[in-house]
Amino acid sequence: MKKVTAPAIKSLKGQRKITTVTAYDYSGGQIADAAEVDMILVGDSLGMVVLGYEDTLSVTMEDMLHHTAAVSRGVSRALIIGDMPFMSYQPSVTMAVENAGKFLSKTSARAVKLEGGFPFLKHVEAIVSSGIPVQGHIGLTPQHVARFGGFKGQGKNASSAAALVDEALALEAAGCFSIVLEAIPSEVAKEITERVSIPTIGIGAGPDTDGQVLVYHDILGLFDRFTPKFVKKFAALRGESISALSSYCEEVLAGTFPGKDNFTSMDAEELKIFKM
Ligand code: KIV
Ligand code: NA
Repeated sequence: MKKVTAPAIKSLKGQRKITTVTAYDYSGGQIADAAEVDMILVGDSLGMVVLGYEDTLSVTMEDMLHHTAAVSRGVSRALIIGDMPFMSYQPSVTMAVENAGKFLSKTSARAVKLEGGFPFLKHVEAIVSSGIPVQGHIGLTPQHVARFGGFKGQGKNASSAAALVDEALALEAAGCFSIVLEAIPSEVAKEITERVSIPTIGIGAGPDTDGQVLVYHDILGLFDRFTPKFVKKFAALRGESISALSSYCEEVLAGTFPGKDNFTSMDAEELKIFKM
């Protein structure tokens, strides 16, 4: 199967919608790749849905590389994007390039994503100049949870909407191959999508973006701590998982598992010798 590349994603704009899901491990990567998604984002949402943190601020480069490498081993087709965690790029342009590079040299990721627009244009330019495709991310940027005072949608008034449009244009000029638009009004996402020539990938940004992204655990209904309005659960695997595990426990307690198909036996001759 042909590998999806950042330039291939770019050329899909205006041709068809682009699909993205997150994944955090080998089996999740395999499942997403089998579903033929275009891009697999190893998101720093890892911190919340897999590691159990309250927010994404504690996620480290080590965490991200460990999980991106695991996803890499399960994926042969989709474009894998490594999400740059809090403080892996903010302190300096040099640090941003070095850490972005680790995703490509230590895993099969062939692009990185970082949150924010205006403050990080120099970082984006330097990473792109190093040969690493960058996906921007504006609107609700969870690494700013402390500054925003919670996970809050952006761009609701005319001036902040206009600032988002400018920020998207600046990210395009800085060399991003696509931009995630998170939790912004659909009208703003539509305007940005019409104004930039790179694909917009929406999450909570309405139907008019060039593509969509959702968190793996949300799509499958595996995570129930909270469900943002923009999430649609396409399955209810948490409930199914609990009932499967309960059935397993019941059968072990009742002595009905393992059944005769679930184990092997010695042949009669060997058994006789063994028992002597
Ligand atoms: O970490 C993540 O999962 C993300 C997506 C929601 C865009 O950044
Ligand atoms: Na993220």
